[in-house]
Amino acid sequence: MNSSRPTHLSRRLFLGSSAVAAAALYVPGAFAEELVKTPAQTEGPFYPDKLPLDTDNDLLVINDELTPAVGEITYLSGKILDRDGKPIRNAAVEIWQCDNGGAYLHSRTGNAEKADKNFQGFGRFITGSSGEYLFRTIKPVPYPGRAPHVHFKIKLKGKDVLTTQCYIKGHPGNERDGIWRNLRDEKIRDAVTVDFAPLRGSKIGELAATFDLVLGVTPEA
Ligand SMILES: [Fe+2]
Repeated sequence: MNSSRPTHLSRRLFLGSSAVAAAALYVPGAFAEELVKTPAQTEGPFYPDKLPLDTDNDLLVINDELTPAVGEITYLSGKILDRDGKPIRNAAVEIWQCDNGGAYLHSRTGNAEKADKNFQGFGRFITGSSGEYLFRTIKPVPYPGRAPHVHFKIKLKGKDVLTTQCYIKGHPGNERDGIWRNLRDEKIRDAVTVDFAPLRGSKIGELAATFDLVLGVTPEA
């Protein structure tokens, strides 16, 4: 693992993202009664069977490579909240997703021959006291049988507390996706289906998506 760079990069990404600035307006606990617990979703078969050497929150660039990954650049951010809406610090947020050609960072992935060697495929972020996380990644793409999605796993003190998936609001593939459709309640579907919208002020067409995760955990005393 590289030592000082991830922190530095995280900070830079944080300062550079208006998505996070907007998320900061959220008042913890203000809408506690309306909070919907984020539903668990299957981990699927493609959690990396070998973690990449670089596991920071920028999935577009591996270590110091100059060539970025192919795809629609997306700042994916949000908060990790307890069921009262209070931010959870020291939560390990892990994401993984296929590259723009549909290949996962996994030895048994489909589309392996088209794999984008510059896409990190997996990233990790440890929340601070605001509970916020941020990744720079690509807008997820569909692959046979699945609507576009980003996999999430949240760990507290090294223990898995939630594994789920995040979907694109309005994507026609959602209605055909058995795993998404399995979420029967519209509110629960909405809890994992978010806008991927143009990032304000971006001159290169970057996107921003906000996905808050509400854990079923008891608030810390
Ligand atoms: Fe998947």
